[in-house]
Amino acid sequence: MFKRLIQLFRGRPMRVEGAGDLAEGHALRALLGDPFAGGSEVVICRVEGELYALDGLCPHAADGHFMDGPLIKGKHVYCPAHNYRFDPKTGKPVGAVCSSAKRYRVVVEGNDCIVFL
Ligand code: FES
Repeated sequence: MFKRLIQLFRGRPMRVEGAGDLAEGHALRALLGDPFAGGSEVVICRVEGELYALDGLCPHAADGHFMDGPLIKGKHVYCPAHNYRFDPKTGKPVGAVCSSAKRYRVVVEGNDCIVFL
């Protein structure tokens, strides 16, 4: 009960089915909730065995979206708009000057994961 109460203040939990099985060095994009009613696009990445979730929108410029599929060098998520890379662990850009990508907390539940928006 107390654990559930605490989670209410840590963001809205959204289940991503199958993301718990994401392969090492890969990213998966997911649309969570209704995009016309406050939904979000996230990109879930597995790096060194851990799952990380970033906002799917690139912080560099409007209309940039992170790619799913293989990560660059198995550890950096990629935005094709201007070829920027970001570290999913920290959200920080790699080799570029830009603000950091927004990160979300992730909990693995079996084959799924829960992203706290
Ligand atoms: S919008 Fe993503 S790198 Fe420019």
